[in-house]
Amino acid sequence: MRLDQFIATSSLLSRKEARRAIHAGSVTVNSEIWKDTGKHIPAGAQVVLEGETLTLQGERYLMLNKPSGVVSATRDSEHPTALDLLPAELTRDLHIAGRLDADTTGLLLLTTDGQWSHRITSPKVNCPKTYQARLSTPLSESAIESLRAGVMLRNDPVPTKPAQVNVLEPDLIELTISEGRYHQVKRMLAAAGSHVETLHRQSIGDIILDPALEPGAYRELTEQEIASAG
Ligand code: URA
Repeated sequence: MRLDQFIATSSLLSRKEARRAIHAGSVTVNSEIWKDTGKHIPAGAQVVLEGETLTLQGERYLMLNKPSGVVSATRDSEHPTALDLLPAELTRDLHIAGRLDADTTGLLLLTTDGQWSHRITSPKVNCPKTYQARLSTPLSESAIESLRAGVMLRNDPVPTKPAQVNVLEPDLIELTISEGRYHQVKRMLAAAGSHVETLHRQSIGDIILDPALEPGAYRELTEQEIASAG
């Protein structure tokens, strides 16, 4: 890998800042100052930037317990974003695999691995996502059956795919869907004659929100969780 690319990937510097630091003599490779930004680094070399040894990070995979009021975006001029809840050194190149509405809480996955997030979000893969929804009014038996069979959503030409519905309390349901249409759960429940008061995502595929994570807290995914979306 080129020296400037290595610095930009393994530190908080942009590629331009990395080049500047290299030209300024702030970078050593195996204890020698290197000023050539495009020179390739030998495997296993020790690269030091202003006294700090840099290591190349691999892909990152995180789960966050998203609180209400935080937007599923990497940048927003008005509201706090999911990335604002993470330490700056983890946020470089992260993107969100499956957004949530600002008022929805629960499991949000963030990664640098585009192929991995594609497997979770691609409509072709049908990855199941489970939500708990608190409703304004309980659903009738026929409404529950219609959700299980598939419902027509306003302005969508095709019905939703069959969903799993578990009634936990009269006004609290668990809904598992395998699509990711715009505001899908809220629109499905509106089509079923109710209204979502609160919505919480519990799982995506085999990845379950860690109950030890308080709202706003995150952790890295385990190898097993990463592989489960493979
Ligand atoms: N469906 C919704 O309506 N909102 C979400 O945040 C997620 C799924």
